[in-house]
Amino acid sequence: MTDNGSENGERAEGLEIDVDDHDSSLYRVLSSAVVPRPIAWVSTRSEEGVDNLAPYSFFTVASVEPPILLFAPVDDTDGLKDTPRNARDTGEFVINLVTEEFAEAMNETSATLPVDESEFDHAGLERADSTAVDPPRVAGAAVAFECTLHDLVDVGGSTLVLGEVRHVHLADSVTTDGTIDVAEIDAVGRLTGSFYARTEDRFSLERPP
Ligand SMILES: Cc1cc2nc3c(=O)[nH]c(=O)nc-3n(C[C@H](O)[C@H](O)[C@H](O)COP(=O)(O)O)c2cc1C
Repeated sequence: MTDNGSENGERAEGLEIDVDDHDSSLYRVLSSAVVPRPIAWVSTRSEEGVDNLAPYSFFTVASVEPPILLFAPVDDTDGLKDTPRNARDTGEFVINLVTEEFAEAMNETSATLPVDESEFDHAGLERADSTAVDPPRVAGAAVAFECTLHDLVDVGGSTLVLGEVRHVHLADSVTTDGTIDVAEIDAVGRLTGSFYARTEDRFSLERPP
């Protein structure tokens, strides 16, 4: 990383990063600049029947037709994290939306727990039965996407998890006149480190034809 200085010693604004010369991870730059990120709060059930729950903010829509969501767990030094491993082993998971009332509990579920301990219980969260898949939803989550595994894709040190949405739950609190209402979706966004953003401060722009 170098300051962008001029020949007469005056400093120009900015910082240029030559990735090839950079001696440590770009995690801080990537996770600070690609913001705010939505949070996939992913529930899975292990083959042994333990309900796992963990947040993943490298998360987006991959395809609309068919409806496919993707999130990107960074691999642990000893391999896959529990969520992608369970998704691989069972082919099913649920992506729950994180709203502010669940922010602290979501954070609790990012703790590294033994594989036989459920983050639902660790964070004092209730399970709700899913409709199309085995893993439970987070009871009270305003939106839940029940998914079957579409693909796992190795990308560098991450394993992308792509899931086809099979069933969607929308709470009454986020619908108006029988459809989803973005003005009611107070999702929490991840910034970096311990920082988060609210999404209540909205404005609109009409798209040009
Ligand atoms: C808000 C938030 C977002 C996170 N996003 C990611 C992510 O995108 N990728 C990742 O590998 N870990 C992410 N983490 C860390 C994982 O949640 C953490 O490693 C967790 O223990 C993984 O649990 P699991 O092994 O049960 O899947 C995030 C943590 C928090 C608090």
